Amino acid sequence: MKVSPSILSMDFNNVEQETIKINSTDCEFIHLDVMDGKFVPNTTFDDSFIKTLKFNKIFDTHLMIEKPLSALDKYSSISEYVTFHYEAEDHKDILNFLQNRKNTKIGLSIKPNTSIEVLDDLLPYLDLVLVMSVEPGFAGQKFMESSIEKIKYLKLKKDQHNYHYLIEVDGGINEENAKKVKEAGCEVVVAGTYIFKANNYQEQIDKIR
Ligand code: DX5
Ligand code: ZN
Repeated sequence: MKVSPSILSMDFNNVEQETIKINSTDCEFIHLDVMDGKFVPNTTFDDSFIKTLKFNKIFDTHLMIEKPLSALDKYSSISEYVTFHYEAEDHKDILNFLQNRKNTKIGLSIKPNTSIEVLDDLLPYLDLVLVMSVEPGFAGQKFMESSIEKIKYLKLKKDQHNYHYLIEVDGGINEENAKKVKEAGCEVVVAGTYIFKANNYQEQIDKIR
């Protein structure tokens, strides 16, 4: 599994030091949680902050904002992968966008209470599917087991149809449930608290990989 540390749990007073520490690990991605205080009850940062970051990792931006389609351009110019929430836009608008978009890597995320089947006709166009294993908004919540079935479903569909999306999971990941999501077919795992609350980031990354 590839690992995507969520900077939501890093020390924002020491961004330079945190950047050095993360860059010295072998994680592949860096997960950037953009929250607008409307789609979720918390506000974090936006594109202007992301532009200042110096991580030498693949940027994996998770938009938890209202009207994400109108904000995608500014994020896809600074981030390799941009993922937005299915619940934040109309299904037809999402399909139309995906069928006509430019050459950017786009992901879709679903909240714990959204059933995975709603994504069926969108799957062929996606570069990433992000299964939320907590209610989006905050770090440090408990992993929800219901995400495992969704990962298995995505893996099955991917194999059946030769789809190209990456299967990613986000929320409450630790070394025990990382094993379960891996077995279910997860390819990229997001972890915030589990990595940043420890001293040795590489050790934590190794344990969940
Ligand atoms: C929650 C965010 C997650 C969060 C993960 O809304 O999308 O990326 O930072 O943090 P942990 O691993 O602590 O659950
Ligand atoms: Zn996230």
